Amino acid sequence: MKVAVIGAAGGIGQALALLLKNRLPAGSDLALYDIAPVTPGVAVDLSHIPTPVTIKGYCGEDPTPALEGADVVLISAGVARKPGMDRSDLFNVNAGIVRSLSEKIADVCPKALIGIITNPVNTTVAIAAEVLKAKGVYDKKRLFGITTLDIIRSETFVAELKGKDPSNVCVPVIGGHSGVTILPLLSQVDGVEFTEEEVAALTPRIQNAGTEVVEAKAGGGSATLSMGQAACRFGLALVRAAQGEKDVVECAYVEGDGKYARFFAQPIRLGKDGVEEILDHGPLSAFEQEALDSMLDTLRKDITLGEEFVK
Ligand code: NAD
Ligand code: LMR
Repeated sequence: MKVAVIGAAGGIGQALALLLKNRLPAGSDLALYDIAPVTPGVAVDLSHIPTPVTIKGYCGEDPTPALEGADVVLISAGVARKPGMDRSDLFNVNAGIVRSLSEKIADVCPKALIGIITNPVNTTVAIAAEVLKAKGVYDKKRLFGITTLDIIRSETFVAELKGKDPSNVCVPVIGGHSGVTILPLLSQVDGVEFTEEEVAALTPRIQNAGTEVVEAKAGGGSATLSMGQAACRFGLALVRAAQGEKDVVECAYVEGDGKYARFFAQPIRLGKDGVEEILDHGPLSAFEQEALDSMLDTLRKDITLGEEFVK
């Protein structure tokens, strides 16, 4: 397996590369790419860690050498939020970055499984899809917006609230990755009951957790280390499924049946070729149904913005 991390010199990229160097299966290749000149040095640094994963770093204008032969491409290239900004404020810079990287992926590794971290995810995934489509290589089963950070936050906050071991807590999060479009399904957490007040407090805490980090970092960026952990979990899930492991299930923002919106974060079963099956998110509580209904306008507008950008 060859995994390429694009944006690898950044806060997320370096954390993710460190985790992948330690956790990819033996014999894997890890390729790091970033426009920053330090990137080959990041790879040299990581190469001294004694794991059976080879690593190479590339910088400059052309990601081609990192993308050649890649089975999985994880993209965190782009700018991050500062206090007072919304994720949509990143669109002006990040839309163009995702467009040009997607063009390169279409040319160099069109069969790769692509995981997009770059914000605004609700929109950048639509941009990537439209670019790949225009190049005639779009396969909706192979393109993912990575929403795993919402999952791990939900697991952590629920475990804290209920005195549980977070590794035994599982919370599906559906919708998108921004504000009200992030919808944790607290009614479906096994073995845990919430009061209405708890749901009313915990849901916005999860939705605003990114802002909590942006404000705590006070101008120094957004979540990087927890995102590195989340992207590693999702990237390894793609790798495990691609190598034939059965029953690999994660939530991600993908093009599904279009019931709610063209792209929607939902539980999926992963297989050798990406999405194997879109799983039902199960019954919703009245609170969740109302939250779902009221997010859809926002989500659909975010998606249209990306589609129009490419057209
Ligand atoms: P960062 O500024 O630390 O790193 C971004 C890196 O991208 C930099 O090293 C920069 O040189 C590189 N870059 C810029 N343009 C590039 C290009 N064309 N090709 C290759 N590399 C390029 O930022 P970060 O904290 O790592 O965040 C990166 C992105 O991830 C942001 O858009 C942020 O909002 C997003 N993010 C998403 C989630 C999520 O849950 N999906 C979570 C946290 C952050
Ligand atoms: C997050 O959820 O932490 C990321 O999307 C980064 C951000 O801007 O909040």
